[in-house]
Amino acid sequence: MKGNTAKMNTKSHEFIDNTIYPENKQESYNLIHAQLKALLENETHVIPNLGNASALLYLALPDTNWVGFYLIKNDELLLGPFQGKPACIHIPIGKGVCGTAVSQGKTIVVPDVHAFPGHIACDSESNSEIVVPIIIKDKIVGVLDIDSPVFNRFDDTDKEGLEEVVRILASGCNWPDY
Ligand code: SME
Repeated sequence: MKGNTAKMNTKSHEFIDNTIYPENKQESYNLIHAQLKALLENETHVIPNLGNASALLYLALPDTNWVGFYLIKNDELLLGPFQGKPACIHIPIGKGVCGTAVSQGKTIVVPDVHAFPGHIACDSESNSEIVVPIIIKDKIVGVLDIDSPVFNRFDDTDKEGLEEVVRILASGCNWPDY
């Protein structure tokens, strides 16, 4: 609109729509990290940045059926931005894979969710899962959660690649800002 001086970020993200990700996992993560940094340029608010991060990962990572975030709110995990089927909204700390990643303060890789005691099934198609805590100044503010219909989908390259994704989000957003 002519004369509108309000702050606008109308930058196109078409470069992501047209990406063909390398078959080599490490190379693919290198590209994902660069694209995520580009998405975070000029914006520090947690909600749009986590929304775009979940969309990027859902596009880029093969064999995933749910990619999203849970954020700590009132001493529990509350559903945040995600891609996939509607999911459970509240997860107590210490429950499920997500709550366990928070209580243990570390990434949890689950090769077979049916063998994980207390796993919370949000999508019956999920067979394996990875949950990475988001840590700001030694405090966990939320988790990145990714589900796959493929058993044993997540290896060490995924763990390290997704821990870097979370570090980029931790330093590129203004926490807590939701
Ligand atoms: N499976 C998770 C719950 C969240 S859904 O996968 C989206 C858990 O056990 O914590």
